[in-house]
Amino acid sequence: MKSNLIIKKKINPFTKKIFIEGDKSISIRWVLLSSLSKKKSRAYNLLKSEDVISALKCIKKLGSKVKITKNYHEVIGTGINFKEKKNLILDAGNSGTLGRLILGLLINFKKKIKIIGDKSLSKRDFSRVTLPLKKFGLKIFSKKKGLPLIVQGLEKPESIFYKEKKGSAQCKSAVMLAALKSEGETFIKAKKSRNHTELLFKYLNIDMKNNSKKNIDMIKIKGVPKINSLNYNIPGDISSSSFFIVLTLLTDNSQLLIKNVNINPSRIGIIHILKKMGAYIKLINVRNYKGEKIGDIFVKSSKNLKSINCPTKYNSSAIDEFLIIFLVAAKSKGVSYFKNLSELNQKESPRLIWGSKILNMMGVKTKLTENSLKIYGNPKLKINRKILIQNYLKDHRVFMMSVIAALTCGGHWYISDMDSVKTSFPSFLKTLKKISKV
Ligand code: S3P
Repeated sequence: MKSNLIIKKKINPFTKKIFIEGDKSISIRWVLLSSLSKKKSRAYNLLKSEDVISALKCIKKLGSKVKITKNYHEVIGTGINFKEKKNLILDAGNSGTLGRLILGLLINFKKKIKIIGDKSLSKRDFSRVTLPLKKFGLKIFSKKKGLPLIVQGLEKPESIFYKEKKGSAQCKSAVMLAALKSEGETFIKAKKSRNHTELLFKYLNIDMKNNSKKNIDMIKIKGVPKINSLNYNIPGDISSSSFFIVLTLLTDNSQLLIKNVNINPSRIGIIHILKKMGAYIKLINVRNYKGEKIGDIFVKSSKNLKSINCPTKYNSSAIDEFLIIFLVAAKSKGVSYFKNLSELNQKESPRLIWGSKILNMMGVKTKLTENSLKIYGNPKLKINRKILIQNYLKDHRVFMMSVIAALTCGGHWYISDMDSVKTSFPSFLKTLKKISKV
């Protein structure tokens, strides 16, 4: 169904407290890991988005039992070996995380199995995970980099040495999951990226040595015959929160408290970047939950934001937040520079290109290369023109960035495919309505 959102007015000042839906990365990992335990696993606040629903549908096809109640999700998995069936097709929908991580788990699935996805996912690069998985012994029946993909695992996958150079948690995690089902010890040397899989493995007492250094994750994992159940209370998603953080920063006389958000250090690049730009953001009530850091985020409208030459050390920990950071740069004084970001064009849509395109439509000058973006900021930016956002491969984050731009900069916006938020943040518009009339 086509659905368009029209915004013709900036948001009014607000003072509010909100909760954000469950973290997407942890939700998908919970679904996949609980499918490997024969015991009952329960998750509270599991994200009820299309990406996570796709994950639940996949594990059901692989033999897990799933129960959904008003308050929690429950999975009774198959154990380390999935139930084998002929001609299975797994649909990863829009989710790169699901598509790539589940491939790791199929390493010991001995029948041919097909992975499909939507238009956006089918265009994305799967060779980044099939290459290391081939070393374990996975057979790949496709010459294309994208989907659909047919694979076939083996009885006894061999452990491997894997060097990950992109800083991709999806690649690292796919290999970690395959390692669980392999003989011997797999050694992973990976450029730093989000570490939810490591923290969950540690909590599950999986045989893992994690010698992570400042810029590098060094992980050794031994195959296991079984894993424990995983009961989890999933914290709010920092990536979804980031749209509301920026909405507050760019709206006069406003403040917002976002309760119970995952602020794992490998995820909060956006907080470091925005603070360097002069944003008022405080992390309060910080606590530990099963190895994850959780806290409340307090934000106040911030005038006098300044440009940033963004250190590349934040690229991985802010990878999903750059679109909304670009919007802050557009409203800041001076020229901002974001570099070594070719990975952004590998997301649900080519986001470096889309970020630049939207800013240009708003009247902001940019200089775009294959892997970098310069943004010529203007704190007085006001928009009086019509802006039409469409054909963006339904990238949920392009949609949400456009909404926040419309509400903070003005103009007449027509944004297509409102349904795209269902991918990661189904209650985005509802949360917005709680804050102010839209
Ligand atoms: C994710 C890792 C990131 C991120 C994605 C979720 C994960 O991708 O962009 O939205 O849950 O592991 P890469 O690891 O490919 O950078």
